[in-house]
Amino acid sequence: MKTRITELLGIEHPIIQGGMHYVGYAELAAAVSNAGGLGIITGLTQKTPEDLAKEIAKCHKMTDKPFGVNLTFLPSFQAPPYPEYIDAILEGGVKIVETAGRNPQEHLPKLQENGAKIIHKCTSVRHSLKAERIGCDAVSVDGFECGGHPGEDDIPNMILLPRAADELKIPFVASGGMADARSLVAALALGADGMNMGTRFIATMEAPVHHNVKQAIVAASELDTRLVMRPLRNTERVLNNPAVERVLATERKLGASIKIDDIIEEVAGVYPKVMIDGDMHSGAWSCGMVAGLIHDIPTCKELIDGIMTEADRLIRQRLEGTLTA
Ligand SMILES: Cc1cc2nc3c(=O)[nH]c(=O)nc-3n(C[C@H](O)[C@H](O)[C@H](O)COP(=O)(O)O)c2cc1C
Repeated sequence: MKTRITELLGIEHPIIQGGMHYVGYAELAAAVSNAGGLGIITGLTQKTPEDLAKEIAKCHKMTDKPFGVNLTFLPSFQAPPYPEYIDAILEGGVKIVETAGRNPQEHLPKLQENGAKIIHKCTSVRHSLKAERIGCDAVSVDGFECGGHPGEDDIPNMILLPRAADELKIPFVASGGMADARSLVAALALGADGMNMGTRFIATMEAPVHHNVKQAIVAASELDTRLVMRPLRNTERVLNNPAVERVLATERKLGASIKIDDIIEEVAGVYPKVMIDGDMHSGAWSCGMVAGLIHDIPTCKELIDGIMTEADRLIRQRLEGTLTA
């Protein structure tokens, strides 16, 4: 399949694996890229820029295909040393960067002067247009369904994607709720140039996370996610569990006066406990509604090959077959 995204990124299939904390290691990124998609290493999961440089070198050993690095710009008081992370990315020869969170503008000149293409992840049309204005090469449009941070507008992809298509000139991929060939064909029909998947890629053989995480996603239905931290305007879609119920109870009790410290036990430092130790109830961890569409744990190649074969059938038979004369 050829789209503006496959052309821009030099990949075979218009399928991207979004950056995921404690999931996006070299093993997953290389597996996705080897299968013809775009794998992405999560920059800040690596504790230091030196660790990121090592993870990038490891990924180069596992694939000769293009892969990217995610840089999430957090609203934190103690910002990570972003310039050093960017040096690690550029010195590691990575040519694709997925940015997310706050506006990446101040970092774009260095990245782009050194040949990197920037895909900025946004949850609204206005932020996508801003990304286009500041010179991003593409955007990943993350609808309300998505695992992680959907923003505060609550616009699902059925509306958000055609709105983005109406306004944007740069290529964009659909993100949030994407799982299979139906998602890809629908995303293309709504005007996107491909799709980005998070939750679906966690439930794959190569995702280097505890088996309990994959099983929890397979067992979950589309009814099992919750939105936490809404009163803090840092909304996150997570898989429900007793720790999430505690967060929601605290939010209801404290209302607008809630502070992050009131829920810190359930939301900070959770990822290593969940993803490495498989302690599924240790806190809130991101997961999309798309869990309801995930019933197996294939290899990345099986997943991507299956999507592309079925997408071909959907377009040529199901869609074309509905036309008269
Ligand atoms: C466990 C998990 C961790 C994530 N961590 C990050 C992250 O560190 N940075 C980021 O930009 N997005 C992160 N995301 C969001 C994904 O990159 C992607 O945008 C989202 O999962 C798409 O929605 P989907 O899960 O419905 O496919 C995370 C998502 C999940 C499920």
